Amino acid sequence: MKLIMYFFCTFFAVVFFANWEVSEEYVLADTDSVAMILEKLGDRPVNHKLDKNRKNVSAEVGRDLIFNGFSKIKGQKKSKQQSKHFVCTSCHNTKIEDPNLAISDPQARLEYVAKNEMPFLQGTTLFGAVNRTSFYNGDYDKKYGKLVDKARHNLREAIQLCAVECAQGRKLKAWEIESILAFLWENEFKLSDLNLSPPQRVTIQNALNGKANEKKAINILKSAYLQGSPASFAYPPPDRKMGAKLKGNPENGKLIYDYSCKHCHAEEAYSYFKLDDEKITFDHLNKHFSRYTRYSVYQVTRFGTPVMNGKKAYMPQYTSERMSDQQLEDLRAYVKLRSE
Ligand code: HEC
Ligand code: HEC
Repeated sequence: MKLIMYFFCTFFAVVFFANWEVSEEYVLADTDSVAMILEKLGDRPVNHKLDKNRKNVSAEVGRDLIFNGFSKIKGQKKSKQQSKHFVCTSCHNTKIEDPNLAISDPQARLEYVAKNEMPFLQGTTLFGAVNRTSFYNGDYDKKYGKLVDKARHNLREAIQLCAVECAQGRKLKAWEIESILAFLWENEFKLSDLNLSPPQRVTIQNALNGKANEKKAINILKSAYLQGSPASFAYPPPDRKMGAKLKGNPENGKLIYDYSCKHCHAEEAYSYFKLDDEKITFDHLNKHFSRYTRYSVYQVTRFGTPVMNGKKAYMPQYTSERMSDQQLEDLRAYVKLRSE
């Protein structure tokens, strides 16, 4: 009798667990990596996955390079400074900077960064860089020419291009690039970073469990954030005295001045040209704003300042996605107001 009971119990246990196994569903979590979900859905894996075989690679080293400009292996001396002029965070944020990841809207970004006490910069945030598949988009090939060919679809090459051309510094070693990548992978999009609706999440979960179309799920995910940061070069207004035919809002201009210009020019942070809140500073900016001089804000924001082969820091230009014509007129209105 005992033996029969034992037999039945085992039999039911086996049936139960076998079924349980089959019906185990993949349940989405907020902390799931977007890249991982895409790959599970059959999307092509990105070409910048970490190379685990390379020695001395760590996100810590990547963080040091990005924020402080040097790398260090335990027990050894610090490396040479990557750039004499800049660190990566001179021009890039490392947190989310757009309230809606699916559009690049400079005004929405300005309000968002100001609220979160972050700078408003020429380079796109490094947060979610590993989730993008193209780099130096749009007009950047006009500026960097053939150099962009290698970098456009290769994040490692994009990092190297930026270290040498944007930061005007030394080339990064392969293990340093891999360490920057390791840091960037720690700052990839998680599911909760995307503004997905509950039905969209259900579709994705169903697709992961073979109950909905996988392509559709991939499209839902990919339309929730930009696959590349758009970049359109903009130019000073044809008549600089008149400006663009837009009414400037000085309050908004103040945000640009405080969260963008001052990031590099206050206390001579990254430039010898000092910007502060003195009237004399605004007088100077106001006088030159529309002129054809090296101090013209129209000139430096739209064209940047010239690069002198690593001898000197330069100012990167703002594309229209990084500062709109309206915002530039807002800045002009603010400068004018403060110089009156
Ligand atoms: C002087 C300013 C400056 C510095 C310093 C700088 N960058 Fe950039 N970087 C830019 C600009 C401008 C772009 C143009 C594309 C964009 O980000 O929108 C860019 C592009 C990039 C891109 C491609 C982004 C994309 O989505 O197109 C990466 C990756 C990058 N930089 C990484 C770095 C790293 C890593 C460092 C430090 C070693 C660094 N940058 C230093 C200004 C800078
Ligand atoms: C990413 C850093 C950065 C940001 C942001 C930035 N600048 Fe600059 N700017 C520089 C650097 C570097 C130079 C080069 C001049 C130097 O260091 O002597 C420069 C040069 C200039 C010059 C020319 C100075 C000269 O001596 O020829 C002006 C004018 C200027 N910036 C205004 C602005 C204004 C206005 C803003 C805000 C819209 C701004 N900058 C934002 C880094 C920056």
